[in-house]
Amino acid sequence: MSRPWWRDAVCYEIYVRSFADSTGDGVGDLAGVRGRLPYLRDLGVDAIWLTPFYRSPMADHGYDVADPRDVDPLFGDLGDIGALLADAHALGVRVIVDVVPNHSSDQHPWFRSALAAPPQSPERDRYIFRDGRGPSGAEPPNNWDSVFGGPAWTRVRDGQWYLHMFTPEQPDLNWRNPEVRADYEHTLRFWLDRGVDGFRIDVAHGLVKHPQLEDNPGGFDPERMGHGEHDRNSWDQPEVHDIYRDWRRVLASYPGDPVTVGEIWLRDDEATARYVREDELDLAFNFRLLLAGWDAGQLRRAIDESVAAMAEVGAPTTWVLSNHDVARQVTRYGGGEVGVRRARAAVLLMLALPGAAFLYAGEELGLADVDVPPEARRDPIWARSGHTRVGRDGARVPLPWSGDAPPYGFSPNGARPWLPMPADWAPVTVAAQERDPGSTLTLYRRALALRRSQLRLQPPELGWLPAAADCLVLQRGDLLCAVNLGRAPAPLPPGRVLLASEPPSDDQLPTDTAAWLLASR
Ligand code: NOJ
Repeated sequence: MSRPWWRDAVCYEIYVRSFADSTGDGVGDLAGVRGRLPYLRDLGVDAIWLTPFYRSPMADHGYDVADPRDVDPLFGDLGDIGALLADAHALGVRVIVDVVPNHSSDQHPWFRSALAAPPQSPERDRYIFRDGRGPSGAEPPNNWDSVFGGPAWTRVRDGQWYLHMFTPEQPDLNWRNPEVRADYEHTLRFWLDRGVDGFRIDVAHGLVKHPQLEDNPGGFDPERMGHGEHDRNSWDQPEVHDIYRDWRRVLASYPGDPVTVGEIWLRDDEATARYVREDELDLAFNFRLLLAGWDAGQLRRAIDESVAAMAEVGAPTTWVLSNHDVARQVTRYGGGEVGVRRARAAVLLMLALPGAAFLYAGEELGLADVDVPPEARRDPIWARSGHTRVGRDGARVPLPWSGDAPPYGFSPNGARPWLPMPADWAPVTVAAQERDPGSTLTLYRRALALRRSQLRLQPPELGWLPAAADCLVLQRGDLLCAVNLGRAPAPLPPGRVLLASEPPSDDQLPTDTAAWLLASR
């Protein structure tokens, strides 16, 4: 059997609101993405992942879906997504769409009819409605917290409560209800029939909750990324796996190996691996690299443990350094020149690894998080947390394409972008970096081209060669990837340098630098 395309694909995440605006309203849209497809082909990615563009009141920027089978007018219409798919395929770029099965919008017709219907009605059973605790039912049914802050329950007029693991505008669906399951199958087929190449599944580990909705042992701690023991009753219940077995049967009836990739924020690698057993999802995001600091030991452990966990179930590993929910890697690694330097080295390490790699739009420009002023913040986390958590806006600022001043070609008519763009981004625009052989964009293009021409030919097995302190030397077949995370230059391993994140000198690898080499035989 031939290897499916996604096993070692490079997939580029497009946060649609922030990629390219074709209409001049300051918000990115599908026609904007379509117009930039040649850029993505030239960058050398195999696929793009589009964040939700469905009908939505935008309480969580589209992750609150009112109709999963239609396009929100803010982003275009069904004709736009059809045209985007056709053009992308003509350029050899596959398209993955984001589905949000854990919850709907509170404006979804199902939720509106649930509110209008009495307790215990079939309409309410599509969601998770319960009576409250305490003598008059005035306390929430359990102690669960919303991921965005505050209780996970909101009370409705007749006194019942409904569950929302995110904002109150995102009521959780009841996946124990067969109608919910059948409707989602309809959604998957709707998009597969239109030619999408797969799905990114939002909160894939969360669809089924504890059958009795028992209290969690400990409240949610936003600093502890990923779900685990403290909130075990809200996530990762055994029955969730049946859903993905059903979905696999749906996808298997379509040609072209459409892919499923689950967003599974669990802190236990083995639990994550259970989602990619042979008859379930194809891929699970692996956030271990993203969570590791700029530290040789942490990165090596993240890599070894991820590979080992996936090998147990025979699935390929995936790698992620950033996405629209976390601070950009340049910022995490210290910001400024040091942050950029480390991020350039980190991507060479990531792209040398076997498995599928996910890039987040803007990382190829070396963008850092933007310090969005409080009055301009739009992430619901900011308001929901009582202004104690800044939220994710800093990583969602629109992309700079060209020019010397905001909106840097993001909008056609100089419109004000939905999040303010910094005044000092002229040197990092796509147009500026395309002309510069030393730019981060040029590095990404070279790395992706070499990954296609050379790395994919290497065996998936990886090993580690002896290395100086604070250095890593990874080997895959003939390829070596050396990374110097220390404070002083370190000797380069013998071999021919194919690419380096900073120029090596005198066979020395500078600090915060990575290089790919063809091993000498
Ligand atoms: C994960 C998505 O990536 C995030 O942006 C969203 O807010 C939550 N899921 C809720 O849908």
